[in-house]
Amino acid sequence: MDGLRILVLPEAGVPRELKLQVAELQEIAWPGGPSGPAPGADPVHDPALRPLSLLLLFGDRVLAALDLLSKGLVHAGRTYAATGLSTVVTDPAHRGRGYGRHLVAAARAVAGERGADLGLFTCDRGLQGFYEGAGWEWLPGAVLVGGTAEEPFPSDREGFDKVVLAAFFTERARRHRADFPHRRIALHPGAIDKLW
Ligand SMILES: CC(C)(COP(=O)(O)OP(=O)(O)OC[C@H]1O[C@@H](n2cnc3c(N)ncnc32)[C@H](O)[C@@H]1OP(=O)(O)O)[C@@H](O)C(=O)NCCC(=O)NCCS
Repeated sequence: MDGLRILVLPEAGVPRELKLQVAELQEIAWPGGPSGPAPGADPVHDPALRPLSLLLLFGDRVLAALDLLSKGLVHAGRTYAATGLSTVVTDPAHRGRGYGRHLVAAARAVAGERGADLGLFTCDRGLQGFYEGAGWEWLPGAVLVGGTAEEPFPSDREGFDKVVLAAFFTERARRHRADFPHRRIALHPGAIDKLW
């Protein structure tokens, strides 16, 4: 990955020029989606989830981008610091060259270094292999319940075909990993990043 670098910084601190490029990539991937009507002008994510942006750059060109979102999770009677991937995207002109995998693997390392007990997120079933190739672990039968306690947004809702990916960073999380497959995990990241 010669000449490439990864920039890691809070979403709110991403320089505007880079933010606009990310918003363009997101708009291509999710038209009218997470960027909203004014691309690049506003944060995409709920600030309460402490969004951390990872940008894969060649010079000043954004080749791929994603955000890490974090919150506390209470599951099976224990509290964990959980971090998930969101808005993972590679520039369509540069797909299929390993950039997405490189960034998603880096995000796994960053999440662990920044104190998460575990990583947790969902993706469409067809992308499971993409994330597994970057070191993430499939949790068979697990359902991530997004949204809020009042308005849950589960990953097994009608019309969805999603799987849950995870990483167990701390010794405590690893000890209790059996609590996660085949379970409903009430993450509840809120109304903005419903399933982060
Ligand atoms: C998914 C995405 C980020 C992959 O980025 P990329 O830079 O092209 O991926 P890579 O080149 O690193 O691919 C790594 C591996 O995953 C596979 N892969 C990549 N995209 C895939 C896809 N959409 N479906 C299935 N497998 C895919 C590749 O074939 C490759 O496997 P290989 O090593 O066996 O050849 C990109 O296709 C994208 O931006 N898609 C639109 C947004 C999106 O769906 N994001 C995911 C939200 S959960």
